[in-house]
Amino acid sequence: MKIAFIGIGQVGCALAGQLVALDHAVTIAARNPDSDSVKTALAKYPQLQVASPIEAVAQAEIVFLATPFNANQAALAEVGDLTGKILVDCTNPVGPNLTHGLKSEQSGSELVQSFAPKAKVVKAFTIYGFENFENNLYPGYSDLKPAMLIAGDDTTAKQVVSTLCQQLGWEAVEVGNLAMSLHLEHLTLLWIKMARVQGRGADFVWAMLKR
Ligand SMILES: NC(=O)c1ccc[n+]([C@@H]2O[C@H](COP(=O)([O-])OP(=O)(O)OC[C@H]3O[C@@H](n4cnc5c(N)ncnc54)[C@H](OP(=O)(O)O)[C@@H]3O)[C@@H](O)[C@H]2O)c1
Repeated sequence: MKIAFIGIGQVGCALAGQLVALDHAVTIAARNPDSDSVKTALAKYPQLQVASPIEAVAQAEIVFLATPFNANQAALAEVGDLTGKILVDCTNPVGPNLTHGLKSEQSGSELVQSFAPKAKVVKAFTIYGFENFENNLYPGYSDLKPAMLIAGDDTTAKQVVSTLCQQLGWEAVEVGNLAMSLHLEHLTLLWIKMARVQGRGADFVWAMLKR
């Protein structure tokens, strides 16, 4: 698929690198093609392409948003028309002392949807640290795969993102409409506290057991 990345830092670079390795056509929507983050991504993954935000997004079927949460509005204002495009929201609103950045009154993804009202927003790739987007292999669990929880209002868009998740080695778990993103954002805070505050480290993920 044709994929554009807005934001190519820790999260963007990890996901773009995995997707380009699967032969997707991945373009960095670069406001500054000479920035350190663009140069670092290209050095790691030379197959990535670079274009202006408007050009990268115009040619993309799926757009990943991987910017600091507070930059989302400005970043989306630079990319032009997102009508009908799938916008994968990888961002998290994180407030002081690892609280919800919107005081749990609204999910970050609903705010992103308000900044891009004609896009099909799907929240995905948020509930773990970027280390697990670089490498999600957990050997020794047989067929059990790490779970990627996703939320969105558009069923078809969720199916497309689920397929991408599966290609990347995740079990895609659809949790409901975009408002459910609030719960994913709290799950993220739990993961961050466990991994980065309590000192467990980043090498753990959730899995889904069903019967
Ligand atoms: N880090 C994690 O483990 C993790 C995991 C899951 C989700 N998240 C979420 O993912 C998002 C990105 O996190 P990150 O750690 O990847 O951040 P990061 O390493 O700081 O990278 C941010 C990227 O966004 C770009 N950017 C900043 N302001 C922008 C703007 N106004 N317009 C366009 N691009 C802009 C930066 O470009 P420049 O380099 O040019 O400034 C950089 O490429 C955050 O919302 C975070 O909460 C993070």
